[in-house]
Amino acid sequence: MAGTVSGRDFALGIVVGAVAALVLGAALFAAVLRTTDIYSLGHWKLNLRTPFNSMWMNLGYWKTSDGQPVQHFDEACLGLLREILTTAGILGRSSADDCGAKSRGAVSVLDLGFGCGDQTLALARFIQPRSWQDFRYVGLTLNGSQLQTASRTLYRELASASDSQALNQASFKLFRANAAKPTSWDAAIRDAVHALADEQFAERWLVALDCLYHFSPSRKPIFQLAAQKLDANVMAFDLILNEQASWKDTLLVRIVGLMMSCPLHTFLTEDQYKDQLVECGYDRDQIVIRDISGSVFAGVASYLQRQDEALSQYGISIGGFKLAGRLFDWFDRSKVVKAVIVVGRTKVKSL
Ligand SMILES: C[S@@+](CC[C@H](N)C(=O)[O-])C[C@H]1O[C@@H](n2cnc3c(N)ncnc32)[C@H](O)[C@@H]1O
Repeated sequence: MAGTVSGRDFALGIVVGAVAALVLGAALFAAVLRTTDIYSLGHWKLNLRTPFNSMWMNLGYWKTSDGQPVQHFDEACLGLLREILTTAGILGRSSADDCGAKSRGAVSVLDLGFGCGDQTLALARFIQPRSWQDFRYVGLTLNGSQLQTASRTLYRELASASDSQALNQASFKLFRANAAKPTSWDAAIRDAVHALADEQFAERWLVALDCLYHFSPSRKPIFQLAAQKLDANVMAFDLILNEQASWKDTLLVRIVGLMMSCPLHTFLTEDQYKDQLVECGYDRDQIVIRDISGSVFAGVASYLQRQDEALSQYGISIGGFKLAGRLFDWFDRSKVVKAVIVVGRTKVKSL
C-alpha cells in the first residue's frame, strides 16, 4: 500500500538533513584541525609591518659605486634608477658633481611603468627641482593595483612632509593607461601628457625603467610621441638582443619573450634600436646605449637564490621568481640579451 508524505513531514526531513550535514561538516573540520598543528610558521604574516619600506620591482644594478656587490633588492633597484640618471647626465658620478637644485631649470617627466611609488619619489628627489612649481611628473602604468599602491605611497609621503622643500601634490599625476598605445588614452591623460611640453619646462624627459620590452605592438608610438609632440629626451633601462647570439638562442629568447607577454620581435639589436630611435625623431649622434649586463643579470639571479633560501627557513617560497632567477642566470651565461641603459636626445633641442 503506497503511503502519502505530508508537506510538514517533507519540511521536517529537509531540516533534519541540513542539521545532520552541518554536524557532520563540523565534526570533519574539528578532526582536520586536531591533526594539524595550528602553531607552525604561518604567522610570519602577522609579523610584517605595513606599509612596506619599499615595493620596487626591477632587475637592479648590483654593484656599488666602488664596485662592491649590493646585497639588498631595494638598494639594487634604486641603484638602477641612479645609474640611468647618471648616464643621462642628470646626476654626477659623485654627489659633488650633481647639477642639483641651483643650476637646473624647470623639468617635466613622463614616467612609463612607474611601479608602486618608490620610483616616483626617488626620481623627484634625485632631480631636485629648484622649486616644486618647476617640476611636473606624469606616470602611466597598466596595472590598477600598482596605481593604487603608488598613489597611497605618494599621498602618505606628501602628508608627512612638513618643510618648504616638501613634495607638492600638484606636481604629480598618476594614471592607469597603456603607454604603448597613446591613441587609447582618454582626454584627461592626453591633456596631462601634452602639458609636459609647456614651454616653461626647458628640460623634458621620457623615463622607462624596465618596461619597454613589454610594449606591444612596439616602442615606436611612445618614442614618436615623446620626440615629436613633447620634444622630450629619453632615458631608459631595456633589454636588447646580442647581435652575436646563435639562431637557437635567438629563437629561444623570442619564445621566452612571448611567455613574458612581449611581442615576438621585442628584442632588437643595438643597431636596430638606434635606427628605431632615429626614425622616431632622436638624434643618431647623441644616442647612448650602455651595456651594463655585468652589473645586472648575475646579481639578480644570485639575489633570488639567496632570498629563496632565506625565506624557505620560514616555510615561504618565492614561487615563480625561482624560474625568473634561472632565466637571468641563462642571460648571464649565454649573453643572448644585453641589459642596457638607453639615452636619446631630440634633434631640435640638445640639453
Ligand atoms: C618590471 S616592472 C618595473 C616597475 C618599476 N619601473 C620599478 O622599477 O619598480 C614593469 C612595469 O611596467 C608596466 N607596464 C608594462 N607594459 C606597460 C604598458 N604598455 N603601459 C604602461 N605600463 C606598462 C607593468 O605594469 C609593470 O608595472
